[in-house]
Amino acid sequence: MRIGYGEDSHLLVPGRPLVLCGLPLPSDRGPKAHSDGDAALHALADALLSAYGLGDIGTLFPDTEARWEGVRSTVILEEALKRVKVQGGRLLQVSLVLILDRPKISPHRQALQENLAQLLGLSPDRVGLSFKTSEGLAPDHLQARAVVLVGP
Ligand code: C5P
Ligand code: MG
Repeated sequence: MRIGYGEDSHLLVPGRPLVLCGLPLPSDRGPKAHSDGDAALHALADALLSAYGLGDIGTLFPDTEARWEGVRSTVILEEALKRVKVQGGRLLQVSLVLILDRPKISPHRQALQENLAQLLGLSPDRVGLSFKTSEGLAPDHLQARAVVLVGP
């Protein structure tokens, strides 16, 4: 068995789309990023790579290479899943915490959980999602923290 942990954060700015767990959500602001800024998928991809000592997203997709500019987060996640598979690993479970003061995303919990389960090839009961505000400590931040469990 292996575990991996990953994090990501982005600044939330007006007029950008908010995409989390691969799902567009209603919001008047979104992450400032080259890509879609899906912090959830970025944290999960880093956690998957971490489980096998494979570095992080930047190792796979160097931002010094123009061809990776704006690469979709689903592509990043798929690549990390592929690397785990190559190592003989199988993703068993994920636990994800999303921290943002607004918008409120709990109304979309089921859709987020189902979409993420589908992207990861897991049943929804193996996808734990928690949402937190920063209690005003970081009102313009989006943060994601992810743990993965990988088995043989
Ligand atoms: O951070 P706090 O404990 O105040 O969060 C209270 C509730 O609000 C939690 O149940 C969480 O699921 C929800 N929440 C949310 N959207 C956010 C932050 C928190 O739905 N952006
Ligand atoms: Mg609280």
